[in-house]
Amino acid sequence: MSFKKRTHTCNELCKNEIGKTVTLNGWVDRRRDLGGVIFIELRDRYGITQIVFNPTHSKSSHDVAKNLRSEFVISVTGRVEKRPDGTENKNFPTGEIDLLADEIEILNSAETPPFAINEETNANEDLRLKYRYLDLRRNELKNNMILRHKMYQVVRKYFDANNFLEVETPILMKSTPEGARDFLVPSRIQEGKFYALPQSPQTYKQILMVAGLDKYFQIVKCFRDEDLRADRQPEFTQIDVEMSFIDEESIYKMVEDLMKKIFMEIMNVEIKFPIERISYKTAIEKYGSDKPDLRFDLPIETLTETVRDCPFKLFSETANNGGIVAGIKIENGSEISRSQIDGLTDFVKKLGAGGLIWARVTENGIQSPTEKHITKEYFEKIANQMNAKIGDLILILFGEKIKTYSWLGNLRLELAKRNNLIKNNIWKLLWVTDFPLFDYSEEEKRYIAMHHPFTSPNFEDLHLLDTKPNFARARAYDLVLNGNEIAGGSIRIHNSDLQSKIFSLLGISDEEAKQKFGFLLDAFKFGAPPHGGIAFGFDRIAMLLCNANSIRDVIAFPKTSSGTSLMDDAPSFVDKKQLDELHIKLK
Ligand code: AMO
Repeated sequence: MSFKKRTHTCNELCKNEIGKTVTLNGWVDRRRDLGGVIFIELRDRYGITQIVFNPTHSKSSHDVAKNLRSEFVISVTGRVEKRPDGTENKNFPTGEIDLLADEIEILNSAETPPFAINEETNANEDLRLKYRYLDLRRNELKNNMILRHKMYQVVRKYFDANNFLEVETPILMKSTPEGARDFLVPSRIQEGKFYALPQSPQTYKQILMVAGLDKYFQIVKCFRDEDLRADRQPEFTQIDVEMSFIDEESIYKMVEDLMKKIFMEIMNVEIKFPIERISYKTAIEKYGSDKPDLRFDLPIETLTETVRDCPFKLFSETANNGGIVAGIKIENGSEISRSQIDGLTDFVKKLGAGGLIWARVTENGIQSPTEKHITKEYFEKIANQMNAKIGDLILILFGEKIKTYSWLGNLRLELAKRNNLIKNNIWKLLWVTDFPLFDYSEEEKRYIAMHHPFTSPNFEDLHLLDTKPNFARARAYDLVLNGNEIAGGSIRIHNSDLQSKIFSLLGISDEEAKQKFGFLLDAFKFGAPPHGGIAFGFDRIAMLLCNANSIRDVIAFPKTSSGTSLMDDAPSFVDKKQLDELHIKLK
């Protein structure tokens, strides 16, 4: 069935077209029936145009317009007219004209949508996810999709201009555990065997370097079967990059130039470069996080040595048992009330801390409920070390080292939130460097790779591999934006002996290494160049640039926290026949 195709979009008509006869196609955004005349705001991806149905001009089209409802799809032909004086809307590109309808054709009717499309909705997210196609009609999500599109273009243009090759790598690959759990795909042809969906194209991109492709990038889907959060999806997009004959500085420069382009071309914001760098150790000890938000200060001060001999047993025992005592100073925090402090105590207790020690610095000295135990002398030492002035509030936590820094890191973020310390429109990029090579897993009673098993140790720390592997630093780096990890990478091992040694430290036997990563170890025997790379979390960057609360808002068809796609109801049961073909029997 043919219909009258549009001559313009709904965002195009302005004074220049007055007097012309044009056709628009789109959705009914709003209808106002003013007795005699009907006004329709017609919407498409590009914008809105107001259509006027006047019975004295075209009775037949006015009659049809009476039946229009929200989200009907129509084709309207008419004359572009100047709006009567005083009714123009200069905020809209089409706000100076109306389309006086000669003809209208209803291309499709629509049921009443379950939530409003033309205004902010407070519909719950599950409903919006079920009717995702309607949610995507809303300006907010549509604009997020547009920003994402622009990001793809900026990224591709940048890498192309810098001599990178875009190479696609397989989606059906060998299961090579990288950290998270694999999604598996059973093979029909080879009974009992499985493909895995890539957690990232890590091994392929390294092999592309052995292949001599020199500079690779790919905008690629990755799959990880892990617990989901606001910034995690089971399938997500990376900008994946690998380069040969480079060192950390080459990677930093490439990343900073890309970020410069993204911010300039998408946000029209100029970011100061080079980006600040801090070591993992400093990040943890000063901000209690390996992805610190530096849009505000509130540093952590470690007080362990100052209170080692303090009469307050909980401090001295913690210090002497390898734990830490550390605090945060809030300038002019004396205004924070007792009940607000109680709120903060509840907050840290929920995280697992035993309690919150606090003290106000007043004109009459330190005042604290724990003053008797900690003593004035030690409180003064603490206040001195923290450079606390009259009017400041000091908050202190103590306990096992990693946990205590993490509680303080959380407390720091909470304080910033409660006291409105984070200003809008600030972009704070940061490199975190010198990550430890290994993390010890209490659960598995073995070392696990902090980044991934292909990450090179820092050469200065090679001697530690045999004695104190947990002290060895990696040549790994993360890029952090406003407290979010938006990229991570490393310089790789390109020597099969060193790679085998790392596998053995990770508790991966020769046989297992051969079975799981033999192809990579083999490749390294044929002239692997020094190489390294990084991968950006595309969705996370888009989320931050869109000022969205969750990466779901920048993904066209995301999954819920239980991994369900509410629109099409995936995952779903399958027919027994399908399972039989795959040699699978359900328990
Ligand atoms: P990594 O595992 O650090 O590194 O991942 C790189 C970036 O991807 C993003 N990211 C995610 N985004 C959304 N949902 C998820 N589930 C998710 N998991 C990770 C983060 C992260 O910084 N192969 C290495 C990179 C390399 O070494 O070159 C890798 O994948 O923003």
